[in-house]
Amino acid sequence: MARIKAVAFDAYGTLFDVHAPARRALGLLAPERAAAFSDLWRRKQVEYTWLRSLMGVYEPFDRVTADALDHALDAFALAGEPGLRETLLASYRRLDAQPDAEPALRALTAAGLPIAILSNGASATLKEGCAAAGFNGLIDRILSVEAVGVYKPHPSAYRLALEAFGAAPGEIAFVSANGWDAAGGAQFGLFTLHVNRANAPAERLEAAPHAVIATLKDAPAVILAAA
Ligand code: LAC
Repeated sequence: MARIKAVAFDAYGTLFDVHAPARRALGLLAPERAAAFSDLWRRKQVEYTWLRSLMGVYEPFDRVTADALDHALDAFALAGEPGLRETLLASYRRLDAQPDAEPALRALTAAGLPIAILSNGASATLKEGCAAAGFNGLIDRILSVEAVGVYKPHPSAYRLALEAFGAAPGEIAFVSANGWDAAGGAQFGLFTLHVNRANAPAERLEAAPHAVIATLKDAPAVILAAA
C-alpha cells in the first residue's frame, strides 16, 4: 500500500462548527428550531454547490453561503429580522473550531506530516476562519476549489491535493465529516477517513471511505499507521 505523504482536511463541518452561528444568533428560538434552521442553511449551501457544478456554472462559496442563508431565512419567516442576516454571515467567517480539531492537527504536525485544508471555501475566508479558530501554525496549505472553479465532489477539486504535494491519490489522507465528500474523496482514490460524528448510515455510492471514525481524535492513529 502507498505510504501517506500528506493530509488534507475538509473545512466546514470537519474543522469548523457550521452550526455555531445559528446556535448563538437564534438564542431566542427553541434550540430544536434553531438547529432545524441551521440544518436547512447548510443543506441548501451544499445543494447549491452541486447544482451549480452540474449546471456548469460557478459562483464563489461566500455567495453560495449567502444565497442558502436567504433561502433558510425565507423558509423560517426570519428575513425581516433586523441585522440577523449580517450577524449570521459575519459569524460564518469566524466559526468555532470543532473541539476535536486542534489536538488532531497537533498530533499530525508533530509526526511531521504536511497538512492542508481542501475546501469549497474561498481561500481568503478560510484564512480568516483558521486565524479565528486558533489553527495558525497548524495548516501548511489552504487549497480552495476556487482555483478550478468547480465544487467537490468533482475530481478536479480533489486533484488539487495531488498537485500541492506532488503525490499520488493513495499517498494523500483525506479527512471529511461530510459523508458525500468522503465518498467523493474515496472515488478519486484518496486514502479517505469519514468522521461520522452523527453516526449516520453509510452512503450508498460506489466508493467507500477507507476508515470511518467517530471523532477527529481517532484520525492520527489511522493516518500514522498508513504513513
Ligand atoms: C468544504 C465543505 C463542503 O469545506 O464542507 O469543502
